[in-house]
Amino acid sequence: MNLKGKNAIVTGGGRGLGKAVAVALAHEGVNIGITGRNEDNLKNTVEEIAKLGVNATYAVFSIDDEQAVHKGIASLAETLGSIDILVNNAGIGDFGSIEEMPSETWGQVIKTNLFGVYYAAKAVYPFMKEKGQGDIVNVASTAGLKGGPNMSAYAASKAAVVSLSQSMMAEWRKQNIRVITLTPSTIASDMSIQGGLTDGNPEKVLQPEDFAEWVRDILKMNRRALIANGSIFSTNP
Ligand SMILES: NC(=O)c1ccc[n+]([C@@H]2O[C@H](COP(=O)([O-])OP(=O)(O)OC[C@H]3O[C@@H](n4cnc5c(N)ncnc54)[C@H](OP(=O)(O)O)[C@@H]3O)[C@@H](O)[C@H]2O)c1
Repeated sequence: MNLKGKNAIVTGGGRGLGKAVAVALAHEGVNIGITGRNEDNLKNTVEEIAKLGVNATYAVFSIDDEQAVHKGIASLAETLGSIDILVNNAGIGDFGSIEEMPSETWGQVIKTNLFGVYYAAKAVYPFMKEKGQGDIVNVASTAGLKGGPNMSAYAASKAAVVSLSQSMMAEWRKQNIRVITLTPSTIASDMSIQGGLTDGNPEKVLQPEDFAEWVRDILKMNRRALIANGSIFSTNP
């Protein structure tokens, strides 16, 4: 499917996986709205994307604040004209043992990763419903398929995203909205490198561009085809 002229919102699009997805979609002619908290990153990324000849804009808000999410998504929809694609990518990785991680930190991971996905999807839904179609990519993680030591908050948040996303898919496919649940393994980014999960070696470890190509290709499937879920791994990290 040709994506040219479509409008996409990528949450957390100022850096990391979100930025790579935004750039890859812009290369397909997709107009882009990115979101995040760091305005400098967002501005720089929008400048980079605009050079590809598409409309590019941003909104600054924290994904864990429902009112701010609704306001920010509405302003992006107004600037772009409509919303065809939401990439629900913004998230945090806080790692530590159950014993030592303060419960406030634990709660913040859930609030950001789970509620953030829920708030953004709920905010775009009326636009897609009105249009009669849309695509929502929810970025979970392999950590959501199986918990492990020092990742209880992150793994629980992502397991909940998988479940939320499956429910969303079941409800919204009747509106011709494809809800896609992705569970990537470790990819080189601030989150994974600073979290000590990988050294990010580009010879071996998945890079944000690999993830972006995958998302782009899933979105390019004929609309009759819905990739409901998928995982991606480094071959031999
Ligand atoms: N890298 C991996 O190995 C990996 C593997 C599986 C899944 N994932 C998932 O992929 C997504 C992107 O991760 P990444 O590796 O690209 O991480 P990253 O480099 O740390 O980037 C995180 C992004 O999320 C945004 N963000 C975080 N908290 C936010 C908040 N409260 N409000 C608004 N935006 C917020 C950040 O924007 P600001 O800084 O501007 O707020 C940033 O753009 C996450 O959902 C992550 O869990 C990553």
